[in-house]
Amino acid sequence: MLNLIIFGPPGSGKGTQSAKIVEKYKVTHISTGDLLRDEMEKKTPLGEEVRGYIDKGMLVPDDIVIRELQETAERHMDTPGFIFDGFPRTIVQAEMLDKMMEERGIPINLVISVDVDEQELFKRLMGRAEDSGRSDDNEEIIWKRIEVYKSQTLPLLAYYRKQGKVASINGMEPVEEVFENISHAIDSLMAV
Ligand code: AP5
Repeated sequence: MLNLIIFGPPGSGKGTQSAKIVEKYKVTHISTGDLLRDEMEKKTPLGEEVRGYIDKGMLVPDDIVIRELQETAERHMDTPGFIFDGFPRTIVQAEMLDKMMEERGIPINLVISVDVDEQELFKRLMGRAEDSGRSDDNEEIIWKRIEVYKSQTLPLLAYYRKQGKVASINGMEPVEEVFENISHAIDSLMAV
């Protein structure tokens, strides 16, 4: 099984690259951001609970996100693999994911870390804001999301580096070139 994490700041291209990875490697895409926004759109009690965090650019509490992730992953255990997008974002989430995958004998194989500088992130997200309809795509909250990423999520890279699982990818290049470099990293892993 090919189990991947795509890791990077808001606007680094995690969603864009996940779609291409799914098409080529037939893995199941799980984006916790998409799952939570879906609940918000449906105005479920969970959606209403998480709206306050997402609209402020803050992380949703671990217990809520972990429950969503687990329930979704359980429904897809017959997949050839997973790509986790936007999860994990804290050490608690990473430890839970490792435990869940290792218990099933399907550990995470690779963490694809996409690097993009802050001004470019801001430019991309302000561009997307024009038609995304996302309540967190506005100037103030975009900067907040970038700050939250740096303080709460970036430290996770050290956790995965210790496990020797990180492939760093330059996300400043055009979409197709970024994907080519990601594909190389995945193919090298599969060739081992
Ligand atoms: P989430 O949905 O995960 O959003 P994010 O991390 O802020 O990332 P984005 O979706 O904004 O960007 P992306 O990296 O996917 O880039 P994209 O491909 O869209 O999380 C949202 C919120 O939900 C969080 O703030 C939090 O509140 C909550 N949440 C989610 N998961 C959680 C968790 N695990 N724990 C706690 N809370 C959680 O691209 C962006 C734009 O750039 C697009 O317009 C795209 O066309 C363009 N673009 C992409 N690649 C390129 C390129 N190479 N060159 C030029 N433009 C490009």
